[in-house]
Amino acid sequence: MTTTRSSSSLIDEANSLIPGGVNSATRNIGYPYAFSRAEGAYLTDLDGRRYVDYHAAFGAILLGHSDERVNAAAAETLGQIDLVGLGTTELEVECARLVAELIPSVEMSITTMSGTESTFQAVRLARGVTGRKYLLKFQGCFHGWHDAVARNVASPADKLYQRDPLSSGILDDALDSTLVAEFNDLESVKELYERYPDQIAAVILEPVPHNVGALLPERSFLEGLREITRANGSVLIFDEVITGFRHAPGGYQQIVGVTPDLTTYGKSMGNGFAVAGMGGSAELMSQFSSAKGDVLLAGTFNGNPVSMAAAIETMKLISDPEVGFHDHVYRLGDRMRAGLREITERHSIPAVVTGIGSVFITYFLEGEVRGYKDLLRNNDRAYAMFHRRMTDAGFVMYPMTLKRNHISGAHTDADIDATLEAADEVLGAMAKEGVFA
Ligand SMILES: Cc1ncc(COP(=O)(O)O)c(C=O)c1O
Repeated sequence: MTTTRSSSSLIDEANSLIPGGVNSATRNIGYPYAFSRAEGAYLTDLDGRRYVDYHAAFGAILLGHSDERVNAAAAETLGQIDLVGLGTTELEVECARLVAELIPSVEMSITTMSGTESTFQAVRLARGVTGRKYLLKFQGCFHGWHDAVARNVASPADKLYQRDPLSSGILDDALDSTLVAEFNDLESVKELYERYPDQIAAVILEPVPHNVGALLPERSFLEGLREITRANGSVLIFDEVITGFRHAPGGYQQIVGVTPDLTTYGKSMGNGFAVAGMGGSAELMSQFSSAKGDVLLAGTFNGNPVSMAAAIETMKLISDPEVGFHDHVYRLGDRMRAGLREITERHSIPAVVTGIGSVFITYFLEGEVRGYKDLLRNNDRAYAMFHRRMTDAGFVMYPMTLKRNHISGAHTDADIDATLEAADEVLGAMAKEGVFA
């Protein structure tokens, strides 16, 4: 769409018609942020300014913006079929076949339109099949905005594991039916199992909690969760809405070799098209009301052809060795992390540069990072300032503390070089200003 409007005039009008001018609260982060184009690794705002994008629509973009191959698959489908809402289509079956082929825990799957719907369905299925009340989540993990999971993400110190809802309007019963443990700390999980014996329906986690940057899981922690849930008859849910497809074709479970009962995924599955899903064993998934069970499965837009076509093409591309998607983003990610480490060390900035594959972040703290508690030592002001100044310099890094950055299949070595050069300037200036003192 071509436009002659400026960012500020559009934002003014947006503010009068849309609450806060945006359709999702975290998009409201101040100037600039009215965009007219998104191509490859780049965004262009209404004022004609071009940015290298590491925000990647919160991780929904995997291959690069407006990928021609994915767009062509969607366009071809549009010419053939739109929403039918009866029976099934070849596209839905092909999508489910690919998901089962790629994700180790999945034999059968459903599609939804968002990660929130996927985790909602997974939690309800777990409660339905176990007949139990409690859900156990981890401090720092985000699983969408529905009542069962909308609590305890980036909590302040005085709210750790306490009731810390993300929203008003959630019934107390819903909030209190979700228990909160510490990531990478099996003891905190065991304590809750002791307190609520035979009452925990499911344990849900991001296998790498990316909603607070990147907490890298200890293998023994994930294996321990597998054992505890199995021994206690709970459903283990890996929420791979960010890690799925991004870190490996089969998600993080493929890397770590721990297989959950249910897996949720979304975001990058369709490289920016609205599509998500969840899956697991045929036995569990058959408990949906579409098969022999009584757990409601519904959704007008589930499995819609355009989303299916985009997902199929994206899954094929990222799992094709000849495309080499993961080799590319892991190599660039390693370069970025090494570069940021060198820069922070040279400027004597206390920092932990971490991440995995395409995801990189720089915590401003000393010592090691294992669980959410360690992130309370992060210099939030410096984190947000670094991201803001990088964005101002033309490299979009979401300007809020603990937000991660993503490299796509469209980023190049030259983008990484330019980003590191800008980071050197920004961090050098921040060090001189005493931000880290
Ligand atoms: C791990 C995780 N799960 C679920 C969700 C919810 O996905 P959606 O925004 O598509 O509803 C998100 C969104 O950020 C997420 O990061």
